[in-house]
Amino acid sequence: MLVVGPKDGFSEELAENLKCGFVELDRRGFPDNEVCPRIMLDNGIKDEHVVLVNRMQRPTDPNRYLVELLLTIKNLRSLGVKKIDVVMAYFVYARQDRIFRKGEPLSIQYVLQLLKDAGASQVFSVSVHFQRNEGKLPAPIPAFSISGFPSIADYLKKLRLKNPIIIGPDKKSGQFAKEIADLMKCSSAYLEKKRDLDTGTIETKTKLDVSGRDVVIVDDIASSGSTLIHAIKNLKNPNRVICAVVHPVLTGDCLEKVSKKAEFIACNTIASPISKISVAARIAEFIKAV
Ligand code: R5P
Repeated sequence: MLVVGPKDGFSEELAENLKCGFVELDRRGFPDNEVCPRIMLDNGIKDEHVVLVNRMQRPTDPNRYLVELLLTIKNLRSLGVKKIDVVMAYFVYARQDRIFRKGEPLSIQYVLQLLKDAGASQVFSVSVHFQRNEGKLPAPIPAFSISGFPSIADYLKKLRLKNPIIIGPDKKSGQFAKEIADLMKCSSAYLEKKRDLDTGTIETKTKLDVSGRDVVIVDDIASSGSTLIHAIKNLKNPNRVICAVVHPVLTGDCLEKVSKKAEFIACNTIASPISKISVAARIAEFIKAV
């Protein structure tokens, strides 16, 4: 087994956990934004089992990321690699998991099909948006979602929180909050959020009295940060507020905006200044077990 990925600390950590070698993927690009990812090979890799890791950094560029992956999978196949496990720490295009409005693409399914057609054998990702539970995804290729929330729970346990409550900013993330709360043996709750599909505007209805308690707001993704900000506004008298997410997509002024109102932490599925919680060991354990 061999890990191929950019030298960004994450790929190397995964290789260490898998106890295997590492080959750098140089994420080269041209001035016009075309990409030319180069596998920095010293020796041949014919018949190898490759774990291809790629990770975005902030500011994210999902299109570049996806093309890099597809070109590299094809490239590995043409070099004679026999098995390719793709690690997409953040599964791009997974938020379009349904056709919400007539004429839209079913992006998640098409991306999975593209990965298969390029030559991927299996795909591993973390807290994939449309999958609430850890496990196999309904996909045209063996694909797995590994929960990032146990890693968040491990991190939070070390913070010695005062009478903590874990809160999901909407019904869906209420399940994530419960997953963490069960591991931390504390309580959880969720708020009601409504998003306007045309404008993206969010409305949060529930107000929660958390007087004197340490509150952790959890979600799978922080993108614009509006969901987290709305949740913070709907807490009454918290002692300490922490926002913890798996994927720090952090578009625009999200980082600054949320950091002003709360402590802001995330997993390292995307490289960012708040990506303090590593999921590499969990991914490695999952790959070894499959
Ligand atoms: C929505 O379904 C997701 O779980 C997140 O709540 C959402 O992606 C966060 O987006 P934003 O930070 O733009 O509010």
